[in-house]
Amino acid sequence: MSSEKWQVDLDRERSGIDRRLQEMLRSESGIPRRLKSAMGHSLLGGGKRLRPVLLLWTWDAVSQGKNRGTVSRTEALSASCALEMLHTYSLVHDDLPAMDDDVLRRGNPTCHVAFDEATAILAGDGLQALAFKLLARHGGSVAGPLVEMLGQDVGPAGMVGGQQIDLDSEGMEVTAARVRRIQGKKTGALLAAAMGGGALLAGADPGLTATLHAAGFKLGLAFQGADDLLDVSAPSVRLGKSAGKDEASGKATWIRVEGMEKAKRRTRRVGLAALRSLEEALPDGPELDRLCFLGKMMWNRDR
Ligand code: IPE
Ligand code: IPE
Ligand code: MG
Ligand code: MG
Ligand code: MG
Repeated sequence: MSSEKWQVDLDRERSGIDRRLQEMLRSESGIPRRLKSAMGHSLLGGGKRLRPVLLLWTWDAVSQGKNRGTVSRTEALSASCALEMLHTYSLVHDDLPAMDDDVLRRGNPTCHVAFDEATAILAGDGLQALAFKLLARHGGSVAGPLVEMLGQDVGPAGMVGGQQIDLDSEGMEVTAARVRRIQGKKTGALLAAAMGGGALLAGADPGLTATLHAAGFKLGLAFQGADDLLDVSAPSVRLGKSAGKDEASGKATWIRVEGMEKAKRRTRRVGLAALRSLEEALPDGPELDRLCFLGKMMWNRDR
């Protein structure tokens, strides 16, 4: 099947995710107005939605598009939106003055610029708690393992821990192995959760779930490798965030360790390794083909 067809699917999937995110936030009552608008500002204002689509297309590849997953595709869509809330929370906090101190995100002023720092901290906290509530609600019979997996991947041994090492490593002499550790935690963990979560919701057995979780982790390494390459090579207007920040902040990246060309090759290598494990683990068919198209986009992208 041609990649143009998968691109059409991707655009359709993104619109469905955007609509569902809007409904989910709108239907939450009791949130103070300013806090809700700060959450909406970051959540609904753009974003490539790659993590929720990865969850859904993993669900499709495991259940073979026959809507016979443990949890229905509609429920999986809601769970994928909760994952996007977790990702958005990580971005809101990542941009704070105490962290990467960024002013532009998803083509808009960052949350703390559009509102204020305290509100941005609370918007991130709010998105995180809301996401776990919604995962518990929409996870059906696998809600327990799903919440446990995402709690592990997002938490102090996962994304949050990666952010700690990322900040601690600024300006330090680092090795490629340390960069891999940082990237694996700060970014790999959430992509692992996307694929592992999709597998769980589709009723995959523990072996397949672990394999797909590990493949998502590798895709995350490639994703962060590409993010670091784009920080050097793409303009801010295209990225919707400030480019050229990593070098200025002394961030630990493969580019800093070994230069652009080697970093590019390493990024591609780890991405291809992830695709190979997908092809080994999943049955042939259009769902796998489409998932691999998306997988490749993790490092082969221009924004
Ligand atoms: C940015 O993620 C943060 C990283 C982990 C590199 P994305 O590039 O997926 O950001 P959005 O969701 O499209 O804004
Ligand atoms: C982001 O890494 C990782 C998380 C938000 C967890 P970056 O700091 O490189 O992401 P951008 O470039 O600000 O999107
Ligand atoms: Mg950062
Ligand atoms: Mg950042
Ligand atoms: Mg970056």
